[in-house]
Amino acid sequence: MRITILTLFPEMFESVFASSIVGRARANGVVSIDFVQIRDFALDTYKHVDDTPFGGGAGMVMKCQPVLDALASVRGSDSYCISLTPSGTPYTQDKAHVLAAKQHLILLCGHYEGMDARIGHHMDEEISIGDYVLTGGEIGAMVIVDSVTRLLDGAIREESTKEESFENGLLEYPQYTKPADYQGDRVPDVLVSGNHQKIAAWRHAQALLKTAAVRPDLLRKQQLSKEDENILAHPEEWQ
Ligand code: ADE
Repeated sequence: MRITILTLFPEMFESVFASSIVGRARANGVVSIDFVQIRDFALDTYKHVDDTPFGGGAGMVMKCQPVLDALASVRGSDSYCISLTPSGTPYTQDKAHVLAAKQHLILLCGHYEGMDARIGHHMDEEISIGDYVLTGGEIGAMVIVDSVTRLLDGAIREESTKEESFENGLLEYPQYTKPADYQGDRVPDVLVSGNHQKIAAWRHAQALLKTAAVRPDLLRKQQLSKEDENILAHPEEWQ
């Protein structure tokens, strides 16, 4: 997969994309990431990329011309163009899977008070990474690159992404590692029992109870089995 990031601040991405799984995926050719400096496409002497909003109001708005010329310089027939904005569609793990199947993602990072709305007419999609306002789209683009890259073939072991949070509509069950007793805080007995059926049942119950406690909105989207309803009605049996 190829990912192109249109930004005024390419240097923000350096260490994030050089480290860990994304860094390794780039080194192994699983993903290639390139940057376009939007300011390079400004036409005036002072390289302005923003201007005051029509109708008045606070702040500056990114202009169509430099942004759309930057986009045209990299857009191809297989490109899927996304603009990062707090007024976009909320980003989810399901969306990460959809994007991981694309050939070429172009991520446009807005700055200042926003972008000329006509830029949106050239996008396939506008995405928000959450209900808060960041100083620009760069951190959102990092979130998308990170979450998409780890789903690509060859980025990490496939089993690692099968049972994690959101993959079955639930949050992940709690995980533990050695020692079994850390300063009196003990790992649940079932996990050291060696009984794989019981361990699987316990993990499913924990995922269900955790989701009910902190993300009831996720649970409302699920078709619950009789067994699941029983677990939710008697959480004390799974402590
Ligand atoms: N730019 C500013 N805030 C944002 C958000 N919440 N998501 C994506 N891009 C943004």
